[in-house]
Amino acid sequence: MPYPVDRPRRLRRTEALRALVRETDLVPRQLVAPLFVKDGIEAPEPIGSMPGHAQHTLESLAKEAREIRSRGVRAFLLFGIPARKDAVGSAAYAAEGVSQRALRLLRDELGDDAVLIGDLCLCEYTDHGHCGVLRATPQRSGGVRSDVANDDTLDLYARTAIAQAEAGADFVAPSGMMDGQVAAIRAALDASGHDEAAIMAYAVKYASAHYGPFREAAECAPREGDRAGYQMDPSNVREALRETELDVDEGADVVMVKPALAYLDVIRAVAEASPVPVAAYNVSGEYAMVKAAAERGWIDGDRVALEHLTAIRRAGADLVITYFAKEIAEQL
Ligand code: PBG
Ligand code: ZN
Repeated sequence: MPYPVDRPRRLRRTEALRALVRETDLVPRQLVAPLFVKDGIEAPEPIGSMPGHAQHTLESLAKEAREIRSRGVRAFLLFGIPARKDAVGSAAYAAEGVSQRALRLLRDELGDDAVLIGDLCLCEYTDHGHCGVLRATPQRSGGVRSDVANDDTLDLYARTAIAQAEAGADFVAPSGMMDGQVAAIRAALDASGHDEAAIMAYAVKYASAHYGPFREAAECAPREGDRAGYQMDPSNVREALRETELDVDEGADVVMVKPALAYLDVIRAVAEASPVPVAAYNVSGEYAMVKAAAERGWIDGDRVALEHLTAIRRAGADLVITYFAKEIAEQL
């Protein structure tokens, strides 16, 4: 009976041994916690499809951020929901817009020992729910359709970037997938004296079915149509490398891949090609699926979350944006 000479189990015998040879680490400093703040509400409003998360008032936002930071997570991605929406998303770039007020408050509360990232898009602020402004566009087949106008939208992104930088954001994070958005924002920031403000570019963002709970949280589902005309087709990876290269050339300081779990191969490919740090966004639907199954007792939610986040890191992400940030930081 030939016994095996190679015995990989030797290194799995005790936790001390396993820890010694562990290849991938996951620590709170790598995590980014997304937070929602809503204008004009008196008390935080729980988000049904995202247990543990709420649309915050300014007051509850500051409290939640302090609590998260006390667990070792220092980076926050902020989404604002305005009291009133219009066709051009004015509240996104108003000096007193809800995101700007929230950024100033968090900077005040947390000082420089926090990284504040302003999500930069118009969909939370437009009454039609699209990520840019609409324009009647003649179709090749005849007739006219309302379409997101790329270059008109860039001007509004530029204004929003300046407003967020002025309010104290370390990063602006353009998530609308307009062509040239990073270049437009970089130019606007530099021209307004904000050359220190960094850009975390949603470089590779797919038209995914995993954003459902977020659209409830941010009240930003498009009233008509979908985002397939600007977000990427889930089938494509070569295009992800092109989007990454463009964003890096345009001045992105960090590039992001989103969603994460169904796109681990894309994270790996982008991580190998990118000269700048890579972020991955473990999105709302990914969070909700774990929570829902755990609630039914079908899986151990804590362990599955840890496994997911480890996989995202193993695929090559330097930082991970996740709704699990607060609870997982406690486990780590
Ligand atoms: C919109 C935006 C979306 C997310 C972040 N920014 C949704 C969308 O594109 O429809 C999704 C985040 C998540 O699902 O957690 N610009
Ligand atoms: Zn958007």
